[in-house]
Amino acid sequence: MEMNEKPTPGVEKREFKGAIPLGNVRPAGLNSTEAMVGSVYHQLGEKKFVDLVAAFYRGVAKDEILRAEYPEEDLGPAEIRLRLFLIQYFGGPSTYSEHRGHPRLRARHFAFTVNRDTRERWLKHMRAAMDEVSLPPAIDALMWDYFERAATAMLNTAD
Ligand code: HEM
Repeated sequence: MEMNEKPTPGVEKREFKGAIPLGNVRPAGLNSTEAMVGSVYHQLGEKKFVDLVAAFYRGVAKDEILRAEYPEEDLGPAEIRLRLFLIQYFGGPSTYSEHRGHPRLRARHFAFTVNRDTRERWLKHMRAAMDEVSLPPAIDALMWDYFERAATAMLNTAD
């Protein structure tokens, strides 16, 4: 402290340790994981989501057991629904809910057999798709954690 600088009563003078990283600034009420999830879309951009989900469905198309769960002959509309859902979930535009309403994903999956086998197949194709498009490690970890938990939450058939 300078010789002539008077301390303000009750306020301890702190050493300035450099700028607060902007990454720490987040809207009130969000914890850090939620804030990270909400910024993924802006970090990756739309094309990564398009490519990720396209790669995922190329895997699904070749998987006879998983493919049998998809009711439509054309996987194109399912691809668009998953793409829009993921874009919305990871902080992008909410086009999914404008078209489909509240996701209610668990309820929407009651019509399909989600057991250990189909869960593992779903995750295997998503893992391969993520490897194909290649994501920054922190985003890869965040998304993979979400997919594993979401896929577990979708289980609806004992096997
Ligand atoms: C765990 C195994 C899973 C299986 C077997 C499965 C299967 C299916 C099937 C058969 C459909 C119908 C396709 C369509 O017409 O849209 C579907 C829809 C969908 N799934 Fe899954 N799914 C699984 C996990 C997940 C996970 C983990 C997510 C999200 C992270 C997800 C997100 C969606 C979405 C967004 C839709 C479209 C919902 C709609 O708006 O109708 N699914 N899923």
